[in-house]
Amino acid sequence: MKQPVEPFGDGVVTLRLVEERDLKTILDWRNRDEARVWFKTSEKLSFSSHKSWYERYLAKNDDFFFLIEVGGQPVGQCAIYDIDRGAGSAEIGRFLVAPEKAGHGYITRSCEQLVRFGMTMLDLSYLFLEVMERNDKAARIYKRCGFREESRSEGLVRMGLKRGAAK
Ligand SMILES: CC(C)(COP(=O)(O)OP(=O)(O)OC[C@H]1O[C@@H](n2cnc3c(N)ncnc32)[C@H](O)[C@@H]1OP(=O)(O)O)[C@@H](O)C(=O)NCCC(=O)NCCS
Repeated sequence: MKQPVEPFGDGVVTLRLVEERDLKTILDWRNRDEARVWFKTSEKLSFSSHKSWYERYLAKNDDFFFLIEVGGQPVGQCAIYDIDRGAGSAEIGRFLVAPEKAGHGYITRSCEQLVRFGMTMLDLSYLFLEVMERNDKAARIYKRCGFREESRSEGLVRMGLKRGAAK
């Protein structure tokens, strides 16, 4: 069973765990042509496969998937997963903005909050992510949050952040 997580944020964005009632909204964001091409699984997903994925996710305790809210309204999503408490590491990703809320800095703020959650609440010392090398917009956000390129292969850039590293 998934461990509960209290909502957290910076006073502008609030990150709370995704609930079943959010699935339709986030699937609509995810299935837009402009969005899905940036994910490794880039085809359109059906609601039933999305719901099955969510049910498997609910059974995991190494994966936290957040809805981002501003003023109580959903503006995007993000996640921290493959949490390895022994190694003190995890991956972050699944960043997606609601199309009408893009460019307000909400995803940058959420990435900062996710880093804080991983490093302080989960006590991890190293976070990493993968981004397509053509996805400059996403890569700029990660750099602003302190991530640095570690390697690249087959069109994917791996970026990492160690606890205490200067931005
Ligand atoms: C990547 C993605 C999540 C970014 O969302 P976004 O809403 O544009 O993100 P932000 O608003 O936080 O930051 C983006 C821009 O807003 C600008 N911005 C505007 N107002 C801002 C504010 N008040 N505070 C901070 N930044 C602000 C930033 O400077 C930044 O500009 P830049 O793109 O020139 O660097 C979005 O483009 C998306 O959903 N893409 C499809 C899915 C995807 O690529 N996901 C990542 C997979 S690795």
